[in-house]
Amino acid sequence: MKIILTGARGFVGTRVYSKLLENGHSVFPIGSEMLCGELSGARYDALARRFEEIQPDAVIHTAAISDMGAAERDPAASFLANVRLPEIMAELSARFGCKLICCSSDQVYNGAPKVRAHREDEPLSPVNTYGRHKLEGEQRVASACPDAVSLRLTWLYDLPVYRGHSNFGFPLQLFSAAAKDTPRRFSTRVFRGITYLRSMAQQIEKTLTLPGGVYNFGSENELSLYQTALACMEALGLSERAKRLILPDEETGTSLAMDTSRLRSHGIVLETTAEGFYKMAADYRG
Ligand SMILES: NC(=O)c1ccc[n+]([C@@H]2O[C@H](COP(=O)([O-])OP(=O)(O)OC[C@H]3O[C@@H](n4cnc5c(N)ncnc54)[C@H](OP(=O)(O)O)[C@@H]3O)[C@@H](O)[C@H]2O)c1
Repeated sequence: MKIILTGARGFVGTRVYSKLLENGHSVFPIGSEMLCGELSGARYDALARRFEEIQPDAVIHTAAISDMGAAERDPAASFLANVRLPEIMAELSARFGCKLICCSSDQVYNGAPKVRAHREDEPLSPVNTYGRHKLEGEQRVASACPDAVSLRLTWLYDLPVYRGHSNFGFPLQLFSAAAKDTPRRFSTRVFRGITYLRSMAQQIEKTLTLPGGVYNFGSENELSLYQTALACMEALGLSERAKRLILPDEETGTSLAMDTSRLRSHGIVLETTAEGFYKMAADYRG
């Protein structure tokens, strides 16, 4: 397939790029130089010309302002990147008849009533700018291109030894605590999915066959953050040190754990958060 990929130099985009190439697709990155800021007039036309030249079968849109703090500090820039840009990708995908996959976030559930695992059809009222913009982006995408798919991603991790851009994900926080021999506290009351990015990237191609709509897309996790930290330390072979370094905390907070049955009903299954830690450990040992 001919696939346009945005955000190809980002944390998610680098992994998705490699996976698509590995699977024999022709990938056409469109960089942030072409996508940043107001996309109207000549800039909009230039983007439309890229679609015309490429004639893509699909677009995987990962470009965004993904930093929640940055979105809060500059809501106008976040609006352009997280609401208008996906809407424009949807308009162009509808015009050129190609499948669109957009990255949204579990932060849309931040502020929703507490449930064990969030479902896509819940009423939502996100409490931060990033979550609000991601939700509005999903809605505008759906109305501009009903066949488009918005994926609500969880907190992601990969280790920096893997080539390309990385971020300071959950296992690295634990490595760092172990390296500094500094105990860390994790809540026994907060629940959220944390997903191994390479597993997610492996599944992204299958999302091209999903019917249009919104899907929770990440690892399910029934463990509290405290139990999750213990599970991660165990997977990293650090169980003995975990007893001393990982401490329980009664702090309450927002639970973002997601129910992925809609995704699973289409044959796309990601391992649980705890299973993901073992997969990561095995990948890096190998
Ligand atoms: N990482 C996570 O844990 C996580 C969790 C939930 C959801 N997500 C979502 O997943 C997607 C990918 O996230 P990521 O972690 O890969 O983000 P990232 O590493 O920050 O990369 C995002 C890419 O977006 C482009 N970009 C940056 N600022 C932009 C702007 N103002 N306008 C247009 N494009 C801009 C850049 O593309 P170039 O490469 O072209 O420079 C950048 O590489 C985003 O939609 C994010 O909201 C991520």
